[in-house]
Order: sequence, then C-alpha cells, then structure tokens
Amino acid sequence: MSIRHRLFAALYDRMNATAERRWMGKRRADLLADAHGVVLEIGGGTGANLPYYRDVERLVIAEPDPFMRKKLGPKLAQARVPVEISDADAQRLPFADESFDTVVSTLVFCTIPDPQAALMEIRRVLRPAAGRLLFLEHVRGEGKVARW
Ligand SMILES: C[S@@+](CC[C@H](N)C(=O)[O-])C[C@H]1O[C@@H](n2cnc3c(N)ncnc32)[C@H](O)[C@@H]1O
Repeated sequence: MSIRHRLFAALYDRMNATAERRWMGKRRADLLADAHGVVLEIGGGTGANLPYYRDVERLVIAEPDPFMRKKLGPKLAQARVPVEISDADAQRLPFADESFDTVVSTLVFCTIPDPQAALMEIRRVLRPAAGRLLFLEHVRGEGKVARW
C-alpha cells in the first residue's frame, strides 16, 4: 500500500466534511433506510455510512485498505447494529453464495479495477429474488472536466 493510500485515508473525513453535512449525509440516510437483514457493505472506507444503519440484523463491512480500516475501527462505537470488519476485496468475496439480504456500495465502484467481477460477486452473495443492492455511485467521465 502506497503513501497515497495512507494520505487518502488520513484526509478522507476532513475532505468530505462539508459535503457530508450539506447533502451527502441525507443521501446516505435515505439510501440506508432500505438496508435490512444481514448486510454486506463493500469498500466501507472510514465508516461514513455507519451512523445511518438502523433496522439491520448484522453488518459486515468489507474494506481491503488497512489505512481505511484503521480509521474505521474507532467509529464502531457509533454503530447501532452489530458490526464485523473484513479485509475482503469486492472482486473476490470470501462469503457463501446467497448469504446476504442487502449489499451496500457508496462511492466505491470508481476505485475497483474490475467492476464487472465485483458485480458478479455481489450477485452471487445476495439472496435470490429478495436480495437488494443499494448503491450511491459516481463514475469518472472523459476529457477536460474529468482531468480537472
Ligand atoms: C472513495 S472511498 C468510499 C468509502 C465509503 N464507501 C464512503 O462512502 O465514504 C472508496 C473505498 O473503496 C475501497 N476499495 C477500493 N477497491 C476495492 C475493492 N476492490 N474491494 C472493496 N473495496 C475497495 C477503498 O479502499 C476505499 O475505502
């Protein structure tokens, strides 16, 4: 893991604080109101979604970056639901087929090298029919705006 990862994890909450307060927190709350049962969150980062989980039986947060996991640890005290932390990569989830009711992904897919593999893994671990993927994502475009 590079210095870039260490810095990103160290600054992540500070960089996003204004957006979280103004609008992102509300979007997270709206999205996660639909999370239920046994929940897997991929790329949980520093735990920005943690305060918004309510009616959840068990939450597994998968986060492969150790610097992010270090920031996440102290926030577990804020959680109102039982939480486990995993170092799982979304492209190779170490979980049984059909073992989750909900999978959550927020601002993660722009960083996953093989998003198709991750989507196939999500589909595999979600319970058929009733299982749901809740996502709040953005992608990088092309050209000048994307470079900026
Ligand atoms: C921009 S952060 C978003 C963090 C958090 N989900 C949020 O909404 O604030 C992207 C996260 O995805 C994680 N990530 C990157 N590649 C991943 C992968 N292959 N599997 C799971 N998580 C991954 C990163 O380590 C990072 O914590």
